[in-house]
Amino acid sequence: MTIHDSALTITDLRKSYSGVPAVRGVDLNIEPGEFVTLLGPSGCGKTTLLRCVAGLERIDHGRIALGDRVLSDARTGQLIRPARRNVGMVFQNYALWPHMTVEQNVMYPLRMRGADRRTARTTARTTLDLVELSRFAARPVGNLSGGQQQRVALARAVVAHPDLMLFDEPLSNLDASLRESMRQYVIDAHRAAGCLSVYVTHDQSEALSLSDRIAVMFDGTVRQTGTPNEVYRRPADQRVARFLGFDNFLEGTVVTVDGDRAEVQLTGPVRLVATPTAPIVAGDAVQVGVRSNHFEIIPDDDAPADSNEWSGVVRRVRNAQSVVDLDVHCAGATLTVRVLDVARGDATVSRAEGDAIRVRVAPEFAVVLPSAEQSTADVPVTAGVERGA
Ligand SMILES: Nc1ncnc2c1ncn2[C@@H]1O[C@H](COP(=O)(O)OP(=O)(O)O)[C@@H](O)[C@H]1O
Ligand SMILES: [Mg+2]
Repeated sequence: MTIHDSALTITDLRKSYSGVPAVRGVDLNIEPGEFVTLLGPSGCGKTTLLRCVAGLERIDHGRIALGDRVLSDARTGQLIRPARRNVGMVFQNYALWPHMTVEQNVMYPLRMRGADRRTARTTARTTLDLVELSRFAARPVGNLSGGQQQRVALARAVVAHPDLMLFDEPLSNLDASLRESMRQYVIDAHRAAGCLSVYVTHDQSEALSLSDRIAVMFDGTVRQTGTPNEVYRRPADQRVARFLGFDNFLEGTVVTVDGDRAEVQLTGPVRLVATPTAPIVAGDAVQVGVRSNHFEIIPDDDAPADSNEWSGVVRRVRNAQSVVDLDVHCAGATLTVRVLDVARGDATVSRAEGDAIRVRVAPEFAVVLPSAEQSTADVPVTAGVERGA
């Protein structure tokens, strides 16, 4: 199918509900065959953006095209109906036909396109193989578990060779243990469809493990796009960083910049060699972000280093199942330090309140972000009330 060589182009897309903006100017290009995730907190506009692509919403501004084919254009008023977009969709709540069998659900899109019953049945069976449910073909779909029902929904979405696949939090209703094993079915469905996919989630680990590329959304805008590795290691600003698990932010001033390393003087005596995520120059006020699990606890007898090292006192110990979080007070800062290898009972790891402790972070795990004032300056204040998702 030649249409699978088409990229999805979203240009300056805007959509409001009763005057309250939900999507406020999104540009996004998705390549043929690519799996792109919209990642962001509840209410940031992910579903709205997806519904615009599906043709379920009329857009206020901008344009959506698949290759040369214009799907929505606010200027001309063009709106290709959802049924004519040839989209495979998977929703959080499965949205199956409850009175039909597994097989009838999967046959449905084929029958709608005029396939005869026998052909539709054969194709449905093959597609059910993909999600390992052929043996349940004749069961009423309501008798299946949630995970199995979602696998039926995946099969139904790919069975008619869609031109694009749209997923809206398909795993969010499932138990945590099941969610991870379901990821493989999502990938398999995407590959079987052979088209591009847009996947919506608020779960960073899902986004990181599934995607070719991630678009991080806040307040109806895309704040950063990049590969999982780029987004995870080089968040564009503090908000993205926080959403992706950075939990230490230290104020400082840039002293020197040299390629992909910058030296930052923190408020306090510590100098830090860190990695810039955006252009910076000496003198800039910045924030340095570090994930609590990226601190290393240094044995007491190690020689002190020139940079990237703090001496402090453990002020609070928070025990979780397999990790311990320490609040460490150092000159000018409180660090949250996560001790991962608790089971090992490492004797060099101080973790009682009042203990002296030394911690270190490698330059590649300390990212230099624009200071909080700068990074929020270009974000419009959210108008109206958030209604939840
Ligand atoms: N049908 C609707 N009517 C009015 N407001 C809506 C509607 N759908 C979504 N919104 C609002 O638009 C914003 C974005 O919602 P949504 O796209 O569902 O976000 P997400 O999927 O990221 O949680 C939210 O403030 C939400 O309350
Ligand atoms: Mg949503």
